[in-house]
Amino acid sequence: MAVTHSSSHRILIFDSGIGGLSVLRSAYARFPLHQYHYLADNAYWPYGPKSANDIQQRLKSLFRHIDIEAHYDIIVIACNTASTSALGYLRQHFNIPFIGVVPAIKPAAVLSQTKTIALLATQTTVSGQYVKTLEKDFASDCQLLNFALPELVELSEHYIQYQDTDYLQQALQPVIQRIKQHPQAHNIDSFILGCTHFPLLKEQLSLAWQADVHWVDSGDAIAQRINQISHAISSQLNPHRVLTTAATSPTLFATNNTASILDLWLPYFNFSGIQQAQLIENVR
Ligand code: DGL
Repeated sequence: MAVTHSSSHRILIFDSGIGGLSVLRSAYARFPLHQYHYLADNAYWPYGPKSANDIQQRLKSLFRHIDIEAHYDIIVIACNTASTSALGYLRQHFNIPFIGVVPAIKPAAVLSQTKTIALLATQTTVSGQYVKTLEKDFASDCQLLNFALPELVELSEHYIQYQDTDYLQQALQPVIQRIKQHPQAHNIDSFILGCTHFPLLKEQLSLAWQADVHWVDSGDAIAQRINQISHAISSQLNPHRVLTTAATSPTLFATNNTASILDLWLPYFNFSGIQQAQLIENVR
């Protein structure tokens, strides 16, 4: 696919943990000329069981702490849970373009032949109003089966850390069984990976499920959105949105470095030009 953006921007990809790596991979594959930084709020991970209000307050403190408006042109909230619960709130509190990631219900509904689709996501995402609206607007001709699977978030983090496929396949079995117990499970032909951690397990999930189905994520849609916003910024030359800091080298930021997790994660980010890591402390 041709790279068509007109200029390079400083973009911060945010997630609670390592899940946003799936979004960074999609964005970088399509638009590699931007300068990507990554922020994991792993001190506050997991976001899945937290309330929308708690997530909003946390993100406001964190983004103020690192002064996103001074450092970046675009913020990508590469976390379905944070996007579905805080995107509107963040747009009210910061003067910077935010791109959110929401479950790919629309493309899954289009792809599905059986009109039975399954959303795999966190508790906060599956029970939120945002998903209900997406279902009403784009999947009214489908049966949408919702599965809150927080264990997949933990398994993704574990898998990135240890690359233990035997352990992962074993741990996936009860998850797969739980989905198969749904009376309509045999009709599912499209799974929506509605948490950015889940595409990191795509191949392994497909292996565990065995039947031939679609595994749909939002990575490409986010990449396209980055391109659109980037064009809009370039053409509008908004004098209020001039970055006030010098560019630092692409960096992996995290709010917790227990077990030297930053050293462990860093090699996964090297493909995008991120060669250094930095701990962010004392977020209040
Ligand atoms: N990666 C996040 C998402 O897309 C959630 C993981 C978590 O529970 O923190 O929803």
